[in-house]
Amino acid sequence: MLNTSGCAASTSVPLSSRESPPPRRPPAGRSGVGCETEREQTSPRRPTAFEQPISGTQTGVMRTVYSPESAPPRGFYTLLTASVAPRPIAWISSLSADGIRNLAPYSFFTVASGEPPILSVTSLGHKDSWRNIRDTGEFVVNIGTESLMEVMNETSAPLPADVDEFKVAGVRGEASDVVAAPRVAEAPIALECRRHDIVEVGNGTLLLGEVVSVAVDDDVLAEDGLPDFRKLLPPSRLGRLEWGFAPRTQWIARPKG
Ligand SMILES: Cc1cc2nc3c(=O)[nH]c(=O)nc-3n(C[C@H](O)[C@H](O)[C@H](O)COP(=O)(O)O)c2cc1C
Repeated sequence: MLNTSGCAASTSVPLSSRESPPPRRPPAGRSGVGCETEREQTSPRRPTAFEQPISGTQTGVMRTVYSPESAPPRGFYTLLTASVAPRPIAWISSLSADGIRNLAPYSFFTVASGEPPILSVTSLGHKDSWRNIRDTGEFVVNIGTESLMEVMNETSAPLPADVDEFKVAGVRGEASDVVAAPRVAEAPIALECRRHDIVEVGNGTLLLGEVVSVAVDDDVLAEDGLPDFRKLLPPSRLGRLEWGFAPRTQWIARPKG
């Protein structure tokens, strides 16, 4: 909220109650007009709007600030997962030391290294996938499609380690090209991995896998030989229990250095 001189007022107004939100950034050269602090007034050269951060109240954006000590009602973890979204989903297939097939979705998932190609998946706690990867050193990251969303979700059930989760989910196993762990036949992309490292971080365990083979369904390939996002339509994980459908896309050229 702005006072009569255009300065941000100190009272809190929920964003939803504003008629129109203020611009996210003030126009260059206009920031602080009539609102300078004593230090700013006496400084030899007034910094432009983008040179120095200005306080949240000066920008007029009302924010609720959380710290790990003052977590929102459902905890800091849910704040993180609702903020870092959408997240891609690694639908991990693996084999136990006894050869039992395991399948589970993991959304704390990204590329950790391009060369060598390494994927990172975080297990919160020591789950069956973690045990299998520790014991066998192999796993497959399957990339599902929107049509597989429900079945992917079903495979998040905490089943005993001796249950064949391919059977329970009703998906077909397909032999991988390099690793012993099977791929999900219905999933259009399978990234076969060998364990690179397992790193404990807080209550998470980073499962780092070197990609040794990638199998892509021809139906989702573009003419350049790469997966086409609009054909793939991978679901994502959002906050709470929400899943995301594939977003709209746009090409933007990278700026030259
Ligand atoms: C969409 C989705 C994403 C998930 N992401 C993670 C994750 O990143 N890390 C994790 O530890 N659990 C995650 N879970 C929960 C696991 O899938 C669940 O604990 C599962 O039972 C683990 O299976 P496993 O013991 O066979 O490895 C997720 C669940 C869903 C539905």
